[in-house]
Amino acid sequence: MVCFRLSPVPGSGLLMLCLVLGAVSSYALELNLTNSEKATCLYAKWQMNFTIRYETTNNSHKTVSISDFGAATYNGSFCGDDHNDPQIVMQFGSGFSWIVNFAKESSSYLINSISFSYNTSDTTTFPDAKKKGVLTVNDSVGFQVPLNDIFRCNSLSTLEKDNVVQHYWDVHVQAFVQNGTVSTKEFLCDKDKTLTTTVPVIPTSVPSPTTTPTPKEKPETGSYSVTSSNGTCLLANMGLQLNITQDKVASVININPNTTNATGNCHSKTALLRLSGSNIKYLDFVFAVKNDNRFYLKEVNVSVYLVNGSVFSIANNNLSYWDAPLGSSYMCNKEQTVSVSGAFQINTFNLRVQPFSVMEGKYSTAEECSADSDLNFLIPVAVGVALGFLIIVVFISYMIGRRKSRTGYQSV
Ligand SMILES: *[C@@H]1O[C@H](CO)[C@@H](O)[C@H](O)[C@H]1NC(C)=O
Ligand SMILES: *[C@@H]1O[C@H](CO)[C@@H](O)[C@H](O)[C@H]1NC(C)=O
Ligand SMILES: *[C@@H]1O[C@H](CO)[C@@H](O)[C@H](O)[C@H]1NC(C)=O
Ligand SMILES: *[C@@H]1O[C@H](CO)[C@@H](O)[C@H](O)[C@H]1NC(C)=O
Ligand SMILES: *[C@@H]1O[C@H](CO)[C@@H](O)[C@H](O)[C@H]1NC(C)=O
Ligand SMILES: *[C@@H]1O[C@H](CO)[C@@H](O)[C@H](O)[C@H]1NC(C)=O
Ligand SMILES: *[C@@H]1O[C@H](CO)[C@@H](O)[C@H](O)[C@H]1NC(C)=O
Ligand SMILES: *[C@@H]1O[C@H](CO)[C@@H](O)[C@H](O)[C@H]1NC(C)=O
Ligand SMILES: *[C@@H]1O[C@H](CO)[C@@H](O)[C@H](O)[C@H]1NC(C)=O
Ligand SMILES: *[C@@H]1O[C@H](CO)[C@@H](O)[C@H](O)[C@H]1NC(C)=O
Ligand SMILES: *[C@@H]1O[C@H](CO)[C@@H](O)[C@H](O)[C@H]1NC(C)=O
Ligand SMILES: *[C@@H]1O[C@H](CO)[C@@H](O)[C@H](O)[C@H]1NC(C)=O
Repeated sequence: MVCFRLSPVPGSGLLMLCLVLGAVSSYALELNLTNSEKATCLYAKWQMNFTIRYETTNNSHKTVSISDFGAATYNGSFCGDDHNDPQIVMQFGSGFSWIVNFAKESSSYLINSISFSYNTSDTTTFPDAKKKGVLTVNDSVGFQVPLNDIFRCNSLSTLEKDNVVQHYWDVHVQAFVQNGTVSTKEFLCDKDKTLTTTVPVIPTSVPSPTTTPTPKEKPETGSYSVTSSNGTCLLANMGLQLNITQDKVASVININPNTTNATGNCHSKTALLRLSGSNIKYLDFVFAVKNDNRFYLKEVNVSVYLVNGSVFSIANNNLSYWDAPLGSSYMCNKEQTVSVSGAFQINTFNLRVQPFSVMEGKYSTAEECSADSDLNFLIPVAVGVALGFLIIVVFISYMIGRRKSRTGYQSV
């Protein structure tokens, strides 16, 4: 058992921090934060590991796994006070840091976000890294736990973002510990609930946990073009989100236009847009002409580097998406899905493409997808119907009024 005495934190007196290393399993981590009265105020015990994928100087990729936390320190960990939320801050290895933020609500607390930073300048851990510096991934987890309950998740939880995969298991954590006593009432994660046969008693007054993963943010819209000897021959603006399903687990990857390059070629009957970047080896969109008067997306051929170091590749040359007349562009601002296979789909946002007949590097008139035009179409129709109805009402009242006044005049 290792104990640290931390310097006084303003407003909360002295903090006692005790670490019990290797208590149960060899890699279990345990943190027992105490307040000025030496009463436990935050308790956590968990296991984790990290896998990081990075680009090397010769443009290949390497992965590094971190599962040894032997010399970890917890400087900056804090139980929270009136002004600051609690957090667990952990430093380990060569420049790694790991921060968990908590927040209090009326009858519950949130395990808010998990932030992980690594320093690719360290050449022993990240040999040949192309980009040197501190990189951070910050995941909003948003687990809601009733106050005075200890959160438990023995099942494996995986967070995957950017180039980092985080695994957590055997997790026990309680923030805002009352009266210095860690609760015996466990609040289970969804995965653990299905494992145990005895359903834990959860008071009905407690807000239901929001354990569903937060929806991935929209990808940024990129502008891509292909140039031939005659100038720009293909234009594409789109936000792209790849959805790869492997072993029933979907990983969603947003394409960052800042790190994505476009190449391709243009012929009279086919055109190719090839995107490549740090995590996509290639993503090909092949367009074709049909009936001499329309174009469409015929083929997608993709090869993506996954965070675990493997490569996912798939192609389908029998697609029929983004259909529009030659000489125009295809536009769809709403989210649309291109289903390449059962395991691979592309979600597109703010899409506009013109693979043929580009004049002076500009888009021609757009043919809009039905999802967009539904709205544009419905509004004038609704206004038209309302106006028509009003005209009829005015006309009928006019007729009734005229007839009444005429009969009145005649009877006199
Ligand atoms: C945490 O530390 C306090 C003070 O040292 C101790 O009384 C308590 O039993 C510890 N709790 C756990 C769960 O280890
Ligand atoms: C990149 O360098 C590593 C060694 O640092 C080597 O193993 C790998 O084959 C190289 N890749 C390419 C594409 O040259
Ligand atoms: C990380 O932990 C998971 C779950 O226990 C395990 O499957 C995986 O092999 C571990 N990875 C490394 C690199 O230790
Ligand atoms: C953490 O704090 C200890 C003493 O409290 C100090 O010796 C150590 O250098 C600190 N580590 C970091 C990474 O700040
Ligand atoms: C990252 O690592 C390099 C080399 O070890 C070091 O010089 C640098 O100060 C580190 N950066 C930070 C922010 O810790
Ligand atoms: C991570 O993001 C959350 C909000 O999403 C923020 O409150 C928190 O401070 C961030 N953590 C770090 C270390 O940047
Ligand atoms: C903490 O102690 C106070 C007073 O001793 C008591 O009223 C309260 O119920 C206790 N809270 C918990 C969670 O045990
Ligand atoms: C360039 O334009 C000319 C005339 O419009 C056409 O014949 C030729 O095929 C074009 N070349 C390319 C590479 O598109
Ligand atoms: C990813 O694909 C899976 C399986 O097709 C689907 O259940 C999931 O909703 C998709 N996610 C997104 C963000 O499109
Ligand atoms: C791309 O670059 C722009 C401008 O430099 C920046 O505002 C944006 O955040 C970057 N996007 C990503 C995903 O890094
Ligand atoms: C994009 O192309 C430029 C110039 O060819 C190259 O320097 C850069 O590394 C490429 N970026 C990616 C992400 O492939
Ligand atoms: C996909 O593209 C790769 C690389 O250009 C190529 O080797 C492969 O044959 C293509 N697959 C299909 C089905 O077109």
